Amino acid sequence: MAIQTFRGFSLLLVISVCTVLIFLTFGHLSSIGWNAFSGLTRQVDEEMVGSGEVEETLTKIADSTKTNGAEVKSDQTSRTTPGAVPETPMPVLSRKSFKKAPRWDFDDIYNQDAPPRQTTCAESLRNSEDEGFKKAFLPNVRMFMHRTNMSEWNRLSHFNNPFGFMEFKHDEVMLAVNLIPKPNEPLLPPKTGSDKCLRCAVVATGGILNGSKMGKEIDAHDYVFRMNGAAIKGYEEDVGNRTSVYVHTAHSITTSLYLWRKFGYTSAPKDEGIKYVMIPEGMRDFLWMEGLFKGERVTAGPYKNNRPRNYYSGQYNETRFYVLHQDFLRYVRNRFLNSPHLNSSHWSIVRPTNGAFTIFLALQTCDTVSAYGFMTEDFRKYSNYYVERLRKTNVIFYANHDYIMEKNLWKRLHDSKIIKLYQKTVPETGSPSVTPKH
Ligand SMILES: *[C@@H]1O[C@H](CO)[C@@H](O)[C@H](O)[C@H]1NC(C)=O
Ligand SMILES: *[C@@H]1O[C@H](CO)[C@@H](O)[C@H](O)[C@H]1NC(C)=O
Ligand SMILES: *[C@@H]1O[C@H](CO)[C@@H](O)[C@H](O)[C@H]1NC(C)=O
Ligand SMILES: *[C@@H]1O[C@H](CO)[C@@H](O)[C@H](O)[C@H]1NC(C)=O
Ligand SMILES: *[C@@H]1O[C@H](CO)[C@@H](O)[C@H](O)[C@H]1NC(C)=O
Repeated sequence: MAIQTFRGFSLLLVISVCTVLIFLTFGHLSSIGWNAFSGLTRQVDEEMVGSGEVEETLTKIADSTKTNGAEVKSDQTSRTTPGAVPETPMPVLSRKSFKKAPRWDFDDIYNQDAPPRQTTCAESLRNSEDEGFKKAFLPNVRMFMHRTNMSEWNRLSHFNNPFGFMEFKHDEVMLAVNLIPKPNEPLLPPKTGSDKCLRCAVVATGGILNGSKMGKEIDAHDYVFRMNGAAIKGYEEDVGNRTSVYVHTAHSITTSLYLWRKFGYTSAPKDEGIKYVMIPEGMRDFLWMEGLFKGERVTAGPYKNNRPRNYYSGQYNETRFYVLHQDFLRYVRNRFLNSPHLNSSHWSIVRPTNGAFTIFLALQTCDTVSAYGFMTEDFRKYSNYYVERLRKTNVIFYANHDYIMEKNLWKRLHDSKIIKLYQKTVPETGSPSVTPKH
């Protein structure tokens, strides 16, 4: 009897200790208002379409998860499984096996080994007092990809692109990944002189910039980030003429050329010394990179026979080419743009926009961030793109992005003084630290 009570007590103790541990590890996240990551449950039967095959895969996943979980670095959790170094890729997971975005227990754990960036800038967003932002922001999350190892491959194979390698074949992807140069210098060189603040402008393509005359103000920043169809010639007065960092995918750098030619867009920005940043959005991007790094034609996929180097207008140099890391992209999604659409049947295409990733790239690398041409409350008044001057077009909502959630996030970051968002009609400011409503 006594023994049974004791057993019962131990069990209770174990349960409570576990609960406390779970709370310590993840509990604080659920209290943040920044669409904080909340689905920290390993998806097993719930999300999987039941079938014998799937169950078999699941067992294998469970095994490989144990192993690669051991390699994951984190300030919150450290797991150790001594001697467990996988040598082979885990079985390929299929997106079709999940009815909504799977959430693994290591979903919200990221490599945090980016070189620390000390700043003496008093007004740096890194000194923000906003509680929600402070909790969600990871100052040292790994930003850029280069050669990787098998445990990393297996860990990242649990996440669909662009957040990981799900459904990709190890050997095909590695042909490109092994060629990615390890960044030798930070994306933005530190400033010399008395003003040590790195002041950045991020310029998106929104119609709000038409007629804005923001060009001078934009160019006055230390660094200017642009993405996608960044048309400049003929639009300088509104959008400026400098580009220090250009963010793109293989799709955006190729399609902008023919979609926007009629608006005078003839090449990706090519300022001297420009940094090119790629979002590895799909397999086609790895095929693109392989051709790019080798200086050859693309061998397969939608850009077969293209010569990627021709798209960088003579400014391509591997020392200035960066590839965003899946951990960084997943961190942005999980902690800031965790859209409810990730629970829908089209979950696997749902991801933040290239513009959103660019704002976060700037938040990680700059002290102050001003955002221009992003969606605002009154977006219906403006054309979809600033190049569409002659006839007002309507903003197009594509199923792969949650534009409204992004719009609300920019406003919140602005109201909390973490970014400065260019708005034409300044809406009444709500209280900055409220939990977002969806
Ligand atoms: C694999 O790479 C990760 C990330 O860089 C690192 O933390 C880990 O120690 C590496 N594992 C092995 C077995 O080399
Ligand atoms: C941008 O415009 C300024 C002023 O007109 C000019 O001095 C500068 O060279 C231009 N920069 C680029 C990158 O075109
Ligand atoms: C790339 O940049 C490095 C460093 O600035 C330089 O030494 C090298 O010559 C450049 N390579 C090419 C192909 O221009
Ligand atoms: C998805 O659904 C789960 C369970 O119903 C819920 O806990 C989670 O918050 C939802 N995720 C999003 C991003 O809405
Ligand atoms: C773009 O701005 C110009 C100059 O302010 C204005 O005349 C034009 O109507 C605007 N176009 C659209 C589509 O709003």
